[in-house]
Amino acid sequence: MSTEWDNYWQGRSGVRAGAALDGVGVETHTGIAGFWDDIFTPLTPTSKLVDLACGAGTVLRRAQAAGISDLTGADISSGAITALQTNMQDVQGVVCALPKTPFTNGQFDIAVSQFGFEYAGAYDAATEIARIIAPGGQFAALAHYKGGAIDKECAAKSAKAHVLIDSRYLDVAKDVFAAANAQDQVSYNAAITALSEPRKTLDELARSGMALAKHIQAGTAQMFGRLQNYALPDVIGWLDGNAAEVTAYLSRMEAMQNAALSADDVAKIGAALRKGGMAPLEPDVFAPDGDAKPIAWTIRASKP
Ligand SMILES: C[S@@+](CC[C@H](N)C(=O)[O-])C[C@H]1O[C@@H](n2cnc3c(N)ncnc32)[C@H](O)[C@@H]1O
Repeated sequence: MSTEWDNYWQGRSGVRAGAALDGVGVETHTGIAGFWDDIFTPLTPTSKLVDLACGAGTVLRRAQAAGISDLTGADISSGAITALQTNMQDVQGVVCALPKTPFTNGQFDIAVSQFGFEYAGAYDAATEIARIIAPGGQFAALAHYKGGAIDKECAAKSAKAHVLIDSRYLDVAKDVFAAANAQDQVSYNAAITALSEPRKTLDELARSGMALAKHIQAGTAQMFGRLQNYALPDVIGWLDGNAAEVTAYLSRMEAMQNAALSADDVAKIGAALRKGGMAPLEPDVFAPDGDAKPIAWTIRASKP
């Protein structure tokens, strides 16, 4: 399902940040940039490169900076591909859902993926990757690491999203606005009382740095402050839109946790690559911020 990612790439966060891993700093992490630079620098500029589950093109931008010009990005979300093509006009963008791709056998000299192909069921995706790489070509990926820093961050964010949903803040806020609109003082007072606990929860989440909670806090404060300026359907639409965003945010965090690979999963990926005629390197744990904070698996393979 691409819904949770479409919501991200078309929504506020995707447009603002252009990075898929809000809070982890993937877009600007020098260790990650260095990993890709080491792979891209030795390539010839005419190498055909595909980034699978490319998002808005974080890795493609590094490839371009290294002088590679034949670049393709593939992602399940049309919103991601639109963002990619807005950022990088010369890149071919393809909307497709791994493990299936429209690419021909051996179409690419190098396939890369950063926190991407593992969302599609890593074994099947690895089989497809081995198919589309040409003899003499290679595969390089940073993949979610079960129990690693990003996995833990996603677990913490999922927990906060659950707290926000369970607080029913957005539902009770609707009651407040509806009562105010109906000029029903009794219902209004009751709704304001009912909002007291959910509001405390929202404030705590906002104080803890949850961007979505801050956004909801600021938006509702503005509307509460000037009730007469807002039509009820607009207010309800805004609250429902934010409820949908919280749900999609939670599914995205859970999708990231589900995608995280164990050592066993990584061994299976190696087997799929081998079966597809590739020679995988020993997978490694990528911990540019120290061994206590592993971020990813590095998965690399070449095709003789
Ligand atoms: C964590 S983001 C990483 C994006 C990008 N590689 C980056 O590092 O910024 C995961 C990406 O995988 C994409 N994705 C999820 N499932 C997919 C699938 N089955 N096929 C292709 N792309 C997928 C999402 O749309 C999203 O852009």
